[in-house]
Amino acid sequence: MIGAAGGIGRRLATLLTEGGDHATGMHRSPRQAEVIATTGAQPVVGDLIADNVEELAAKLAGHDAVVFSAGAHGTGRDQTTLIDGKGLVKASDAAARAGVSRFVLVSVFPEAARGGELGEGFEHYMRVKKSADVRLARTDLDWVIVRPGRLHDEPGEGRVTAGVAIEIGDVSRDNVATFIKAVLHEPSLNRSIIELTDGAIPAAQAVSALTR
Ligand SMILES: NC(=O)c1ccc[n+]([C@@H]2O[C@H](COP(=O)([O-])OP(=O)(O)OC[C@H]3O[C@@H](n4cnc5c(N)ncnc54)[C@H](OP(=O)(O)O)[C@@H]3O)[C@@H](O)[C@H]2O)c1
Repeated sequence: MIGAAGGIGRRLATLLTEGGDHATGMHRSPRQAEVIATTGAQPVVGDLIADNVEELAAKLAGHDAVVFSAGAHGTGRDQTTLIDGKGLVKASDAAARAGVSRFVLVSVFPEAARGGELGEGFEHYMRVKKSADVRLARTDLDWVIVRPGRLHDEPGEGRVTAGVAIEIGDVSRDNVATFIKAVLHEPSLNRSIIELTDGAIPAAQAVSALTR
């Protein structure tokens, strides 16, 4: 998992290990190893900016899937380009090199914050995220792109609305994690872009419906 110490990453790592999966959590700051260890995942130091593709591939090798939930979280345009943009390119190239074909990317609704005072930083973020989606969709990986609505930290009960095109809304980080866990356990959901908000359908059922 890339971005494992983050809001979604931590929750997903915990859900996976609680369910009996083995997870490795990549983090760039050594002090985050402890945060990751508390989720039950194995911490590994890795940096989407500092590491090259070969170094990242060595860290991804042997896994069944990669989840990319890393992001610059408002630290500036250049960081957004390097992490959300070039970082995704490196990570997807590394997954291909390591022979890990399953790749789940946490992206964003294309119309997020539409109508608001976005500012150039947010516009840049949206452009970079869309380019990352385009780049991943052009690979031969077994990718799934998940586009959450507005993230929040209220507890989620694992119920969602998910579809290739849905109305934008809020979604708890708990529910994003629960949904991605279900995606990881349903390999037939593949090469799909899924929009996601809080809703009424249990996540596993929502994933299953998307495979039909
Ligand atoms: N906020 C919203 O409403 C919203 C809506 C839709 C989608 N999203 C997307 O959802 C993604 C995940 O959300 P979240 O809440 O989990 O984000 P988060 O808490 O900011 O987590 C992002 C993680 O990425 C890590 N990271 C940053 N740069 C890295 C690098 N160079 N190498 C390796 N890891 C790096 C961060 O580590 P550090 O602590 O070292 O920085 C952090 O652990 C966001 O990135 C965003 O693009 C957000």
